[in-house]
Amino acid sequence: MVEPLIEQAREIQASAHVPYSSYRVGAALKTADGSVFVGCNIENANYSNSLHAEEVAIAEAVKNGHTDFAAVAVSSDERDGVTPCGMCRQTLAEFCAPELPIICDLGGEEVAEYTLGELLPNAISADTLAAAEDESE
Ligand code: THU
Ligand code: ZN
Repeated sequence: MVEPLIEQAREIQASAHVPYSSYRVGAALKTADGSVFVGCNIENANYSNSLHAEEVAIAEAVKNGHTDFAAVAVSSDERDGVTPCGMCRQTLAEFCAPELPIICDLGGEEVAEYTLGELLPNAISADTLAAAEDESE
């Protein structure tokens, strides 16, 4: 059986706006209460304004009042096991514990599973800034 979260990450790729890379990415973010928010990549002619699928899914969840997450699935139309880029890993780390499962689509029923802590060890966090503040007092 295909992991349901992967299924949703695949489905939302149909909405991706990718005139420059033609590389469709979908992300499905499950909240602690079992809701799922999805996102796709939305590219821009200036390239740098392009939104990543994970960012869009996180924004969708947060604006609906969800900041507690259980897992995220990421898929590209290449089914190449794409993982969240460095920027998206850091954006996830703002809300998620290092134990967050990150499920990546290898096609069919195959996935590669990581934790956020594996993909982004020693992330900068609110704790980092609070500790620096304490040091300077
Ligand atoms: N992309 C994502 O949506 N998420 C990632 O974390 C990796 C990269 C998108 C950005 C761009 O539209 C395309 O994939 C090629 O980099
Ligand atoms: Zn990214």
